[in-house]
Amino acid sequence: MHSILIIGCGSIGERHLRCFQKTGRCEPGVCDANAALLQEVGARYGVPTFPDLTTALNAKSWDAIVICTPAHTHLAIARAGAAHGAALFIEKPLAVSLDEVDETRTALAASGRFNAVAYVYHSFPWVAGARAFLLKGSLGRPLHASVVAGQHFPTFRPAYRQIYYTRHETGGGAIQDALTHLVNAMEWLIGPMSRVFCDASHQQLEGVTVEDTVNVSARHGDVLVSYAMTQFQAPNESTLQIHCENGSVKIESHTRRWGVMRRGDDDWTWHTTPPLERDDLFITQANAFIDGMEGKATPLSTFDEAVQTLRFNIAALRSVSTGLPITIP
Ligand SMILES: NC(=O)c1ccc[n+]([C@@H]2O[C@H](COP(=O)([O-])OP(=O)(O)OC[C@H]3O[C@@H](n4cnc5c(N)ncnc54)[C@H](O)[C@@H]3O)[C@@H](O)[C@H]2O)c1
Repeated sequence: MHSILIIGCGSIGERHLRCFQKTGRCEPGVCDANAALLQEVGARYGVPTFPDLTTALNAKSWDAIVICTPAHTHLAIARAGAAHGAALFIEKPLAVSLDEVDETRTALAASGRFNAVAYVYHSFPWVAGARAFLLKGSLGRPLHASVVAGQHFPTFRPAYRQIYYTRHETGGGAIQDALTHLVNAMEWLIGPMSRVFCDASHQQLEGVTVEDTVNVSARHGDVLVSYAMTQFQAPNESTLQIHCENGSVKIESHTRRWGVMRRGDDDWTWHTTPPLERDDLFITQANAFIDGMEGKATPLSTFDEAVQTLRFNIAALRSVSTGLPITIP
């Protein structure tokens, strides 16, 4: 049994706690600066609680730490965890600037323990299935891709006005909070983004001023890619299409399926995952992380893949503020 400390037991931290518990492969503890929340969550799941990271790290030797605090705190906690000798699972986005990236990468390498970033699309069977198919190369090179995605954020995250989401400095806004998932997924499918031209605006969400709507025209190397996303729309849908030399791949997250249409085909050939609970995807992800701790291969986002997506987040925000396309080095 692995001892795993979940730091931050808000929305995603509680989900990770529940889903790591359900793997049956670990004994979790939780840490949160909010004492009332900590006691409530600790009691609900019957796990030990710690009021701060230092107390938790002094209490015992943890095999792993799952970092579920707001993004601007991720890398400092990661370095403390690396010094402790723990494996690390860091929530997305990795950070809000590149300032601490190099020293954190050095600290992770020195610890020698497994680490990954929780871009959960890597654990969606319909994304992994499409990727495995694309990698076989039978459709030839990708040439163009598009992403159309969104949901009604207040329905899924009613507390959005009270959390990190309200400010860019803490990881808020549609680009860093939501679009980052889709860009990371597209980078996993076709390679890293190299140029971004981004338009974004606050169109509707009440009580915040950060952007809730984003249009991106990008290049991932030679592939032209467009992204369109809102956080006020009624449908909770994400559709990714990748058009290659000899045919196309479509991923529909909301219908749990991916499909292929080769040139000359009349219709899509679909591969559909049976209905599942949202927690099932996070249990899959937790098992993948524990696999990684045990030295097995995993599909999870690496630290450097998440740094690449962080470069997108930063470049996109700069493109919005300058009105210019930005090259991602
Ligand atoms: N992968 C996903 O699907 C997904 C979903 C939601 C959020 N997230 C990410 O997870 C992170 C947290 O999001 P959330 O929605 O759970 O936020 P949240 O505000 O609900 O929870 C964050 C918790 O961290 C605690 N905290 C903050 N700083 C702390 C510190 N230094 N020590 C101990 N506790 C501290 C807060 O008290 C709070 O309870 C963000 O980076 C967010 O982008 C990912």
